[in-house]
Amino acid sequence: MIIHAPDCRIVAGRRKTTETSNFGVSKREGHDSSKFYGRKLYYNNKGDVSIGSAENTVPPEYVDRILCKSSQKMNELPDSCIHLAVTSPPYNVGKIYDQDLTLAEYRQLLKAVFSEVFRVLVTGGRACVNVANLGRKPYLPIHSYVIADMLDIGFLMRGEIIWNKGSSAGASTAWGSWQSAANPSLRDTHEYILVFSKGSFSHAASTRQDTISKEEFLSYTKSVWEFPAESATKAGHPAPFPVELPYRCIQLYTFRGDFVLDPFCGVGSTCVAALRAGRHFLGYDTKQEYVDSALRRISKEDMT
Ligand SMILES: C[S@@+](CC[C@H](N)C(=O)[O-])C[C@H]1O[C@@H](n2cnc3c(N)ncnc32)[C@H](O)[C@@H]1O
Repeated sequence: MIIHAPDCRIVAGRRKTTETSNFGVSKREGHDSSKFYGRKLYYNNKGDVSIGSAENTVPPEYVDRILCKSSQKMNELPDSCIHLAVTSPPYNVGKIYDQDLTLAEYRQLLKAVFSEVFRVLVTGGRACVNVANLGRKPYLPIHSYVIADMLDIGFLMRGEIIWNKGSSAGASTAWGSWQSAANPSLRDTHEYILVFSKGSFSHAASTRQDTISKEEFLSYTKSVWEFPAESATKAGHPAPFPVELPYRCIQLYTFRGDFVLDPFCGVGSTCVAALRAGRHFLGYDTKQEYVDSALRRISKEDMT
């Protein structure tokens, strides 16, 4: 199949945008994509819709705090006060904090939390959701359920990052039938970071300051990220993500001083990343021992 991609060429020092090409192009800056988005493929797609751009502020008593409570109701937060949510939800797989929910109940729990996330995000605010798929018999495509539910809430999808955990995820021997086509199993060495925005694709820059370097921007805008997983023993949590994961999302999607939320914050990896990047944070977790660990990690950061 030929993909008709928008084309762009530099002519006499000026960038000339052409409409379409039967061939892919290596550089796509400044292309005119209106024909592509005018195609039937994009009919009925909500696209960039305005839902008001007013921003509220997080009440001072919740700035740089971690709350020990369920994020299904974030009553303490007004609408439209958070610039980015980065999180990894509980996977409902039998960890100490997991309930034994049916798939429908599990999706309902995540949907309740992500509906609250939608409410508290500013227009143009982003949500980055780290998830893995589960099982083999059959394989449960959790990431596709999360995408469907996020779209249903009203989020716009911006992309899907494949987190290649590399050698840190290669130790599993759950390959099914060894060297036989009888019943081999894939061993996932990746997870997903699903990226959504609320209402608008862009986040007004006005006087806000970016902090991302050129090298970070070139690397983080690629859809495959590679860095090792975090050790559960070292983190004191059964399913932590490395600080690198929220740090990249924060650098790419927020300005200095913006507000970052993690509705399932565990031992506070997102909060640590926010502090390192000069952003404010608010975390929620239902387990007091994780909240305590997160607070200890944060106070160590404050001292460095
Ligand atoms: C996958 S872990 C997040 C780990 C975190 N990213 C870190 O690096 O420490 C999910 C967390 O969600 C918490 N949790 C489960 N249900 C919750 C709820 N309704 N509200 C808030 N937190 C919840 C669990 O206690 C667990 O720590």
